[in-house]
This record gives sequence, C-alpha cells and structure tokens, in this order.
Amino acid sequence: MPIFEWNDGYSVGIDDVDQHHLHLVALLNDMYDGFTAGMGADQLAPFLDELVDYATYHFACEERWMAASLYPELAGHRIEHEKFIAAVVALQLRMIRQERGLYLETLVFVKNWLSEHILQTDARYGRYIADGHTGEGTTIELA
Ligand SMILES: [Fe+2]
Repeated sequence: MPIFEWNDGYSVGIDDVDQHHLHLVALLNDMYDGFTAGMGADQLAPFLDELVDYATYHFACEERWMAASLYPELAGHRIEHEKFIAAVVALQLRMIRQERGLYLETLVFVKNWLSEHILQTDARYGRYIADGHTGEGTTIELA
C-alpha cells in the first residue's frame, strides 16, 4: 500500500509541474516500499541522487513559470526550494556515516515536503495561475 496517494485536486494546473510532482510521489512510494522491505541508510544513495536530480530540473521549471507570470511570492518560494536542496545535501553527508534511522528520517522529510510545500505552497501558485495571472507564461520554454 502506498504511503501517499495522488489526487487530481493536488494539480497545480501546469502539466510539466504536475508530472514532476507525480514523479516525486512515485519516488516516495518506492522509498516506502524499500522501508517496509527492510532497507537502511546503506541503500539510500539512489533515492538521494534522484532527489538532487528532481530538485535541479523541477525547481528551475517552477521558478521559470513563476518569473514569467510575475508571481509576487517568487522570492520566498525560491528560499523554500533552496532549503530543500540544503536539506538533501545534509542527508547525503549523513548517509556517508550510515546513521541509524536515516532512511526513515529521509522518508518523513519527503512526505512532509509533499504535504507542506506541494500541497500548500505550490497550491497557492496554482490558484494564482487559475485566477488568470499567466503573464508571459505562454512564451516561456519548459524543460
Ligand atoms: Fe515549489
């Protein structure tokens, strides 16, 4: 059973952004499967690498949309993205020491990111777009 189920109500309304979010949900569910199968910190590396990769293309995509649509909360949103990247790098450093409990901690971190950032902070941007604030959004190039 997945730890997190996607619901169409979570859509931000931008296909690429939604696809990226769905990908993160799948990654979280894979991590959870690993946890229930007994995986530990020594098997975290591919998941953390994937989170770094995700952060690189996904945050750039979101921030391009926000800049193009003149989103007034872009600066604060970008800070949340930077904090996510810093947190993942910190987890990578701790993984090297194979700290006990780190797998579960990473799982909770991703789950919280989904429920706090995606379902709240990103959702605010979705409402901004839905209100017709597309700005120059039609002219930007997506990754
Ligand atoms: Fe975001």
